[in-house]
Amino acid sequence: MDDPNYEREILSLLKDYQWLHNDPSSDLNNFFTGDTFSRCVPDDWQQWLSHLSEDQLHTLTITSEDAISSWAPEVPPSLIKFIHECRRLSLRNLISSQAIHAHHDPLRHHNSVTRGMSIKKLHEVQRLGTLITELAGKYSSKVKIVDIGSGEGYLSSVLSYCYDLDVVGVDAQFTKGEVDFSRKIPTPLGAEKRRGILAGEISGKLPKPDREAEVKRLEDKLQFVQRFIPVRIHLVHHVTLCRLTSRANSFWISHPDTKIILIGLHTCGVLACSMLRLFNACEAVVGFVGVGCCYHKGRIEDIFPMSHTSTRTMESNFHGILDSQSLYLACESPELRCSQSIEDQRYALRRRFYRSVLEVSFRCAFGSNFAGHFVVRDVKRQDCGDFFDYSKAAAAKLRTNPPIEGADQVFANWSTDENVKQVWKRYKDREKEILIVLQLQMILAPVIESLLILDRYQYLVEQGMEVRVEQLFDAKLSPRNIVLCAQKP
Ligand SMILES: C[S@@+](CC[C@H](N)C(=O)[O-])C[C@H]1O[C@@H](n2cnc3c(N)ncnc32)[C@H](O)[C@@H]1O
Repeated sequence: MDDPNYEREILSLLKDYQWLHNDPSSDLNNFFTGDTFSRCVPDDWQQWLSHLSEDQLHTLTITSEDAISSWAPEVPPSLIKFIHECRRLSLRNLISSQAIHAHHDPLRHHNSVTRGMSIKKLHEVQRLGTLITELAGKYSSKVKIVDIGSGEGYLSSVLSYCYDLDVVGVDAQFTKGEVDFSRKIPTPLGAEKRRGILAGEISGKLPKPDREAEVKRLEDKLQFVQRFIPVRIHLVHHVTLCRLTSRANSFWISHPDTKIILIGLHTCGVLACSMLRLFNACEAVVGFVGVGCCYHKGRIEDIFPMSHTSTRTMESNFHGILDSQSLYLACESPELRCSQSIEDQRYALRRRFYRSVLEVSFRCAFGSNFAGHFVVRDVKRQDCGDFFDYSKAAAAKLRTNPPIEGADQVFANWSTDENVKQVWKRYKDREKEILIVLQLQMILAPVIESLLILDRYQYLVEQGMEVRVEQLFDAKLSPRNIVLCAQKP
């Protein structure tokens, strides 16, 4: 990670394969309208990959280069080189991973705390619990853990009840889970357990009078919960760097002998970056443990680059290499996809395929009125039986901005419309093309994530922090599994 050429090599690779991650064609909705396959994929790759079976393509991301070469004669050397370079530059192949199940498990005796958690969440909170406890144990003074973006409060609660840490959870939303969780804790738990602090927030989007009513309603609800349940609950507001800094600083003034460790499990986009900036800026914060997610949530300029090193490298020759589509791809997980059943993988592919064909149908149906602004919200699995079922269900879930005149009429006759039938006839045998490009994207995705984590690592190192980067979770369970753990010297 400390090799000065590492970042440059990643960026060169991303520059060479921009068509896979940073191009209108890399958004698979535009797959057929942008003619992605024949326009972008090199001819020899197209031919060779088209000969592979569907099963082989589904496992392309996790098969060794030697095995891939043996699948069919004359594999294009540039394809093998692409796969090799993506793997070589992927952070998860460069850093150590903690042996799974290596730790003592304090969660075993706390069924009431862990009830309702998925296997994935249990795995994550147990691994993080051990890591955070070790970090907190390094300080002789009092330590307060601040869990940013605590969500349902699973990690905060486990740290408080199972690892006996002093925790404040902060989230932008008042989730039903917080109250539900509080009800699960058996009473009385004893005074020393009265420290799990969960937080809720009232959305800043409400108009002012509604907002005040909502504040009142939530406060009443919280007081009710507090009276009966030994969990203190705080109301906080949407976390921004500025708010977080002023809260942390005022806390420090009133508690000068308490150290803060900031933690975040799956902190989305810009929130993870705000936490890192706070860690750097606020003296009271001595430690940081974070696992990012949803890298695309927020403005790209607030997310990447953070470090001087990356900023300089980007300015030299790589300006504009990443866009929001690249950040979106960074959230993908080849391991997780491969661990799904073949039926689930086929279903996911089929949806993408139908969605891309639907885009062509829109253009045919609405001609010049259509400027690519249809958003199709989630279509249920039972509605994906065939393209016409899917497109009828999709039509019912369309959100257009602005609405297109005559759309209702067009969708009412969708399955009998001759244009739509013609479009389907033209594309119905081309699903494999999408699978090929999707798998190439999956091979590249970990490299983009590596760049983002490397930049955060460099940012912390530049500030003089001691930093560790580890793969903490099992990639088959948790797509976002790399943890950044830092301390001030
Ligand atoms: C992906 S969830 C993770 C929840 C939890 N840490 C977990 O792993 O189960 C991200 C959480 O961050 C919260 N969040 C996002 N932006 C935030 C902000 N600016 N301030 C506070 N919370 C925020 C969201 O409401 C959401 O609950």
